[in-house]
Amino acid sequence: MADVLQIRHPATGVEHELAITDATIRATELRQFSVDGAPIATYDPGYVNTASCRSSITYIDGEAGVLEYRGYPVQQLAEHSTFLEVAWLLLNGELPGADELAAWEETITSHRRLPDKLKTLLAGFPYDAHPMSILMASTAAFFSFYPDAQNFTDPEARALNTARLIGKMPTLAAFAYRKGKAKPYINPDDSYGYCDNFLQMLFKQAERRYQADPRLVRAVEVLFILHADHEQNCSTSAVRSVASSGNDLYTCVSAGVGALHGPLHGGANEAVLRMLREIGTVDRVPEFIEGVKAGRARMMGFGHRVYKNYDPRARVIKKAVDDVFEITGVNPLLQVAQELEKYGLTDDYFVSRRLYPNVDFYSGLIYEALGFPPEMFTVLFAIPRTAGWAAQYQEFITDPDNKIARPKQIYTGSARRDYVPMDAR
Ligand code: ACO
Repeated sequence: MADVLQIRHPATGVEHELAITDATIRATELRQFSVDGAPIATYDPGYVNTASCRSSITYIDGEAGVLEYRGYPVQQLAEHSTFLEVAWLLLNGELPGADELAAWEETITSHRRLPDKLKTLLAGFPYDAHPMSILMASTAAFFSFYPDAQNFTDPEARALNTARLIGKMPTLAAFAYRKGKAKPYINPDDSYGYCDNFLQMLFKQAERRYQADPRLVRAVEVLFILHADHEQNCSTSAVRSVASSGNDLYTCVSAGVGALHGPLHGGANEAVLRMLREIGTVDRVPEFIEGVKAGRARMMGFGHRVYKNYDPRARVIKKAVDDVFEITGVNPLLQVAQELEKYGLTDDYFVSRRLYPNVDFYSGLIYEALGFPPEMFTVLFAIPRTAGWAAQYQEFITDPDNKIARPKQIYTGSARRDYVPMDAR
């Protein structure tokens, strides 16, 4: 591929040369490029073709369906590692040694508890509050409890607050869940690992010691690994954007939780399950597909800005579905999902637009089988994504190229005009 791109100015016909600075996405640095002394700008709604940063954390090849964290294929990490090992990898760039991992696990365990006053905040929410709303407000509130997070240029303060947040996120999620069920909170128990502690805080009843099936604990671990990071998606861009005005980690992650909540992003897993329930039975799938093709509905869990191939995370999750259903019994909505996928992979509407199942298509079926209501699904996404957000936040803070996010606009409003007095309107 040429390392220089020739472009012709559409109005003047003048030819210009753009240096390609990154071959993988054919990126050029427009900030260094001007025409007749004036900087050149692009109009790119949704930043479809705009790189906002350099990053060494996550690599995606959307054409080939490849996802790697720090160079390691996500499938290998899902098979061999744990979520906390992956979180360390994202934050530090290398897999931890045995001693490093043990110390990291101990640190995270020591940060699981929530400040007591946070429970007062939780009590103030309506009984039917959406858990993502609780999560967003509570992560923002952490800054009141840990104001040292504002010392974000100090690596020690940054590491402490990163560990605090990764440690507390499952506790917050479990409390939000139990509040919705009007059940008493179960405190974290240091004798459990990260994922089985989360399950005991969610599902423990009167038993002396709750023990989830280890295969289900592993399924949660795999889902956490698959959701840990995904480069510059909507919520990560929100985290970086809020960081760019000089904010602490909690404020930025709260913005990330808000962005994740939307049904076009992390909220799609909840939307998929609602869609499957609405369709209900396999015989109603063709009618639904006709509605999608006519623009009356979206097939949630299908399509992706970057993947123009099967999302590699969806492949791993599809396999985990079988493992989980072996223990929990088959969710009858699986058949509806499989029938939808069949259409999605063969019907010209989806094939010509290169729409494939994404990470959210099958994850909701697992979450439901594990006993979660749909409104908890995006919370289950936010817990592991906190590791990715924290790694991206750290990378942004330490990037000498970082700048406050401030895109341009193309103004389309009125030309200058004079104020019209009320009686003359
Ligand atoms: N169902 C039906 N049609 C779709 C879908 C879908 N799920 N996704 C895209 N299309 C169609 C669009 O209507 C458009 O068709 P057109 O060219 O005839 O106008 C074409 O495919 C391109 O779609 P865009 O919306 O331009 O693609 P974009 O990259 O902007 O959007 C997105 C990507 C938001 C993920 C989209 O595919 C979508 O809405 N999917 C459903 C929601 C979803 O599953 N989101 C989760 C994504 S993964 C994640 O965030 C964790």
